Amino acid sequence: MKRLLRRYLVYIASVLTISAQAQNLHSDNGTTGLAAPDWENPAVLGINKLPYHATLQLPSKWKECKEIVSLDGEWQFHWSRNPQERPAEFYREDYDVSDWDKIKVPGNWQTQGFGTPIYTNIDYPFKRNRPSVTSEPPRDWTAYENRNPVGSYVTFFDVTKEMRSQNLILHFGGVHSAFYVWLNGQKVGYSQNSMSPAEFDVTKYVREGKNKLAVEVYRWCDGSYLEDQDMWRLSGIFREVQLWVRPLVHIADYQVEAVPNADYSDFTVKAKVSICNTGKKTAKNQLVELEIACPELYGVNTNPGHRNATNYRIPKLPAGDTTTVELSFHYGTPPRLWSAEKPWLYPFTLELLGTKDNRNHEKFEYHFGVKRVECVGEVFKINGKNVKLRGVNRHDHHPLTGRYVDNATYEEDIRLMKQANINFLRTSHYPDREYLYELCDRWGLYVMDEANQESHGYGYANEEMGHDAAWRDAHVDRAESLVKRDFNHPCVILWSLGNEGGVGPNIQAMYDRVCQLDSTRLPFYDCHPRYSALHDFGYPSPEVLKREAEKETEKPLIAREYAHAMGNSMGNLQEYWDVIYADSSIAGAAIWDWVDQGLVKKENGVEFFAYGGDYGDKPNLDAFCINGLLAPDRKPHPHYYEVQHVYQPLHFELQGNRLRIVNRDFFTDVSEYDIVCDTTVIDGERLMNVSARLKEDKPWAKKGFVVASEQFVLSPYDFPEVVKAADKAAAKGVTIDGNNLVSWMIDGCEMLQAPLEPYFWKPENDNQHAAGFARSSAVWKEATDVTVKYTAINDHSILVELDYHPSGTDKPLLPKLGMRMRLPADFTNIEYFGRGPWENYPDRKRSAFLGRYDMPLSEYETEYVHPQDNGCRTDVRWFSITNGKKTLRIEGLQPLCIRAWDYGEEDLEGVRHPHEIQRGRFVNLNIDLNIHGVGGVDSWGQPTLPQYTIDGNKPYHFGFILDWQ
Ligand code: GAL
Ligand code: MG
Repeated sequence: MKRLLRRYLVYIASVLTISAQAQNLHSDNGTTGLAAPDWENPAVLGINKLPYHATLQLPSKWKECKEIVSLDGEWQFHWSRNPQERPAEFYREDYDVSDWDKIKVPGNWQTQGFGTPIYTNIDYPFKRNRPSVTSEPPRDWTAYENRNPVGSYVTFFDVTKEMRSQNLILHFGGVHSAFYVWLNGQKVGYSQNSMSPAEFDVTKYVREGKNKLAVEVYRWCDGSYLEDQDMWRLSGIFREVQLWVRPLVHIADYQVEAVPNADYSDFTVKAKVSICNTGKKTAKNQLVELEIACPELYGVNTNPGHRNATNYRIPKLPAGDTTTVELSFHYGTPPRLWSAEKPWLYPFTLELLGTKDNRNHEKFEYHFGVKRVECVGEVFKINGKNVKLRGVNRHDHHPLTGRYVDNATYEEDIRLMKQANINFLRTSHYPDREYLYELCDRWGLYVMDEANQESHGYGYANEEMGHDAAWRDAHVDRAESLVKRDFNHPCVILWSLGNEGGVGPNIQAMYDRVCQLDSTRLPFYDCHPRYSALHDFGYPSPEVLKREAEKETEKPLIAREYAHAMGNSMGNLQEYWDVIYADSSIAGAAIWDWVDQGLVKKENGVEFFAYGGDYGDKPNLDAFCINGLLAPDRKPHPHYYEVQHVYQPLHFELQGNRLRIVNRDFFTDVSEYDIVCDTTVIDGERLMNVSARLKEDKPWAKKGFVVASEQFVLSPYDFPEVVKAADKAAAKGVTIDGNNLVSWMIDGCEMLQAPLEPYFWKPENDNQHAAGFARSSAVWKEATDVTVKYTAINDHSILVELDYHPSGTDKPLLPKLGMRMRLPADFTNIEYFGRGPWENYPDRKRSAFLGRYDMPLSEYETEYVHPQDNGCRTDVRWFSITNGKKTLRIEGLQPLCIRAWDYGEEDLEGVRHPHEIQRGRFVNLNIDLNIHGVGGVDSWGQPTLPQYTIDGNKPYHFGFILDWQ
């Protein structure tokens, strides 16, 4: 009896929680009453949401799809800084919103002038106190005043009688972070999980004629505890809003699986199609038909007219029911395999043919690819080959529209990735918009599709979020929405459970769900290998990567993030790839990350790329979001080209007079490229440039595009040796003071704005800043232990020789070894023979070939979003700079490193943005024997690799000739 009673009590208790939720469900806002609002209740993930399902129609065909009515455009908008101040009744039909502001949908409200963008990494932007997002944070935080801003949106749309008789579904592609929906004054539902679609059946709320759609969006919700990604925190309806007008009987979902048999000689396509009947009558004889075209590559079909069809007739489908039909087609021939190299696709149509009057007729177009992804022991394989993932991470970011990235930018991104020989994309750290996946299917990129799950604010691999049972469903919801939406994209090879989140049963549940939903792709998680087919190791140095791969014997190793590309960075990339190619157990690595996350901001008429703190946002992590291979406007940084070179599939070696080509690809033959050899002679130096070019146009590059290249020096440059000094009289107009050349008069004009002097200092780049380089090498702000000898050659040229002899044995690393001078500001045109055309440093110069380049000073400099040391050219034989009347030529007695700026070292100090640099007073020239490498491991402490540093305890000697012409 006692036991029975206890059970009974438990039962009552659970009824009570259910009714508390139910109460929430029926209140028209989440804030009244005693119960926590839906948006601070992890048990409420959605109200009246339809189940997640696959993207039904190829995104490129959405515009022409007769079932989709786009509701995008200008909506009425009202912003409130907290829930209490929001216009709670705005959804009512009699509530007048005509004087509200306008906002673009899709879009973020912060990028349209409402509220404050916040860039934070690990710290939650609100007071951490789950599930509350409105507890009191420190006073100086943005969230103190703006406790949880609410965006109230209204739009109107028309519905015809014809539409009214069908099934109507409201589709939101992505809303950050939680929202309620009302139609014509009636509450429809609620949703969170911001990066996945939310759908509601609105058939019963819609009326013929004008309809009022009201959406109330909360900046933060309990779901935000799982959305703690290192990025701008932006809000609003940032992806498409669509009204789907569907037959009463329709395709609710479908999954297509196509895996080859063991020896790739055969394959079967299997489609699981769910049909639902939303009508009031039993549907009879519904025919589901799958029609598959012959395979195509880049849209060119091998046999255009031919199609294979299979179908199934559903005799009866009662009203309100959903049934799943399985269709399969067995080929009996080897498939055209899908890979990033050869993205063969099989286009298909899936059709539902209803009763004779064709009322329940719908037809979707999609494609599948046939491939196998597996781990065989510790080797990762695609289609049976040990493919290396040459990867990059990408945030869905646009400098003007924030989290909404339009199709044209997607195309530009994927084109630039393909051109850089990137074959692997991680959608860090959440699902992107659907069109991106279609592009990856078509143009060929392996994708790690990542669930929108990061609770980093509780710590990397934290137990709090991983174990708390109240958050289990919230975790699983994110895995399920990921796999269900993107199942039919052949580009997906890995399903990632998220990034820097918890460990424990909640993650196990995500893992189980992913494995249950899809057995043809592999699960991945960074926080513990228990939940992952591959073992992740983030940000290793090349040496550590090698060691870790040797240590791990059960699973392939991957560096889901490496080569932190913050600012002027990406040194030692080749060193990584030497390790990766040498060890078959390393699956690959993905650069952090693709594009600088800067937002366009206008201040006093000047536009610039803003980062953390530029909006007074707090907490913020400053420029730590500026880590891209591209600037926010997609202009490649110099290190983009280094990636292109190191990632190239072909490697060239010159063995005597034979050219050996190593092909790192598996599904592309060398014969598919034109191999071109060019020999040039520049000032006696014979150089051979080899390139592999596309034989035909690809969607991402034209015929002739250079996919791989290398340079060989056939006969080396003859550096001048000893220069005979002329007599004393030649040194006319020159004033020397100790080590410094303080004045040089040519034709009565002073050519030096500041002396030529030994100078060992250089400003830090971001990596060096994090590694405390300025502190550790501070003594070099003054050059010591150095002597410079000046020898006049004639009345317009001088030989300069520098000797460095360390007086002790405990000197720190030298930032650079060389000299500096300042010329008048009008010397703005440069020509040189050295590595280029883009900026290069000792540890990042493989893509920059020797050549003769000319460019204005403004192009010689590199403009980083966060200003720092830049603009070096290495292996310079000679360099000349002119104002059109006079030219200074610098001739090395050995290769030189030269940097030239229209500002000085001191002008970079404390400057946050390029437009704040004081320019144009002089031209700053650094002429060096060597310079400290940019570094390329991380931007939180790892130093530049030792081989790219300058030992302060060794002697050095170098020289060059200055010549005025
Ligand atoms: C990683 C993290 C990324 C980003 C990066 C630093 O650990 O996964 O989201 O924060 O560090 O830029
Ligand atoms: Mg993080």
